[in-house]
Amino acid sequence: MGFIQEIGGPLAEGFARLGLASQVAVTVGGFLFLSVFLNVFSQILFKNPNEPPLVFHWFPFVGSTITYGMDPPRFFQENRAKYGDCFTFILLGKKTTVYVGPRGNDFILNGKIRDVCAEEIYTVLTTPVFGKDVVYDCPNSKLMEQKKFMKIALTTEAFRSYVPIISDEVTSYFKRTADFKGQSGIVNICPKMAQITIFTASHALQGKEIRDKFDETLADLYHDLDMGFSPINFMLHWAPLPWNNRRDHAQRTVAKIYMDTIQSRRAQGESDAQDMMYHLMSSTYKNGVKIPDHEIAHMMIALLMAGQHSSSSTSSWIMLRLASRPDIMEELYQEQVKALGADLPPLTYEDLAKLPLNQAIVKETLRLHAPIHSIMRAVKQPMPVPGTKYVIPTNHVLLAAPGVSATDAQHFPQPELWEPHRWEKESPLAPSMVRNEPDEEEEEDKIDYGYGLVSKGAASPYLPFGAGRHRCIGEQFANVQLQTIVAMTVRMFRFRNVDGSNKVSGTDYASLFSRPLEPANICWEKRERHWE
Ligand code: HEM
Repeated sequence: MGFIQEIGGPLAEGFARLGLASQVAVTVGGFLFLSVFLNVFSQILFKNPNEPPLVFHWFPFVGSTITYGMDPPRFFQENRAKYGDCFTFILLGKKTTVYVGPRGNDFILNGKIRDVCAEEIYTVLTTPVFGKDVVYDCPNSKLMEQKKFMKIALTTEAFRSYVPIISDEVTSYFKRTADFKGQSGIVNICPKMAQITIFTASHALQGKEIRDKFDETLADLYHDLDMGFSPINFMLHWAPLPWNNRRDHAQRTVAKIYMDTIQSRRAQGESDAQDMMYHLMSSTYKNGVKIPDHEIAHMMIALLMAGQHSSSSTSSWIMLRLASRPDIMEELYQEQVKALGADLPPLTYEDLAKLPLNQAIVKETLRLHAPIHSIMRAVKQPMPVPGTKYVIPTNHVLLAAPGVSATDAQHFPQPELWEPHRWEKESPLAPSMVRNEPDEEEEEDKIDYGYGLVSKGAASPYLPFGAGRHRCIGEQFANVQLQTIVAMTVRMFRFRNVDGSNKVSGTDYASLFSRPLEPANICWEKRERHWE
């Protein structure tokens, strides 16, 4: 009896605990079932005819987050086929209205300032990384002035000085990097292009002094800043997590490095530099206030970060595409020989205009691999969608995806084919926008949002640099940078795929900017005569 009593207590306790656990499981299961049931029920019964159709989903809050996150372009295409150009899906509990196609691009990207707002969406991510009082941490009118300062600094004269800087950086990178020792080899090209991008951009835009710091402290600090851009930070940007602590420390340290550099340049009385920092140091807001040093520092961070992801992803895609089409890489080499002479003299800004295929490589790669697949805006007041009965309410977020029209057969014949020659007017694959290009004299519809005249053309099917008041100001710089990197790489190497096929790597959508899945290995072989 005593023994039974002795074990009876814990046994009974065990059974009681088991009972409690199964009760909890049943309650949770029941709750889940009920919420799924109510969610499905409400989708079937309560359709609002004045709102775009809602993408069917089983679970509340999660909605379509997973299918969207795994492959956004496929998600857009599949749902466009089901629901049309304008539809809504649930992204982490938020009703997100996608409007694709040229009309959708125009509706969202050229939306009026009283209707749509970018800063409300992006500030949680960007302000801790860039710092205070710039970009999305200030009124839109101030951002427009800041963009104007940056755009004005990117003059033809500046570009002329950048091409030799970028060429030298590329050549010296390939010559000193261990992965390119020997006559041929295999390399995961993405980290190499990321380094080339940061060295070339920092040197051209921020001067030699800052560039040299990337060999020491700055590269690690920028890496820590970068961690602040992971999509999870849309929700956890405030949390005292290790990566957020490192982000905050890096932001303070990098900003101080820039501010110290500004002060020492000012003390030296420098007056002939062509870099962005120098231009900002001598710029004044409309209200007569000179740009404070901390804002220049924060704009420097913003510029480098804005360009880094997009340009490094694009240059990686270009190299992977060239490895999949060695014939095009050879054509690029011959194009330079023909246009510039067999000895291939040092590349100049003017030379880039003589290399149409080199230009088309960048254009075609951005058509298929635009690094920004989703552009979001908060809705500030109900927005009627022209030509429909829909009104987008203020509790929705708007999402533009210009990549959808860039891969639509209606605008680009054989849209999935990477074919740089399609940008030639006579090509049977030329998009209608190239075949019917307006005469140069013809006046394009232009508008000034406060940072200089830009083409209104959000209705174009090809908008890798966005449109409207938030349009990219780095387009020309990116083109100069990418075309120079491609031209120099083509002089030094022949690429091909490791298995000799013409396949390309898949896309990694896990971070904010899409990029090739890694490792993305390619075979390189040196063109001997350009290595002396
Ligand atoms: C904005 C793409 C390179 C600076 C944008 C936007 C896109 C874009 C799509 C619009 C975002 C929106 O509407 O929310 C690209 C691509 C690049 C590139 C594809 C390279 C291939 C650069 C570079 C710089 C830069 C090199 C700097 C030198 C900016 C800035 C904005 C912007 C300052 C304005 C943000 C705003 O007004 O809200 N870019 N970009 N970008 N980009 Fe770029």
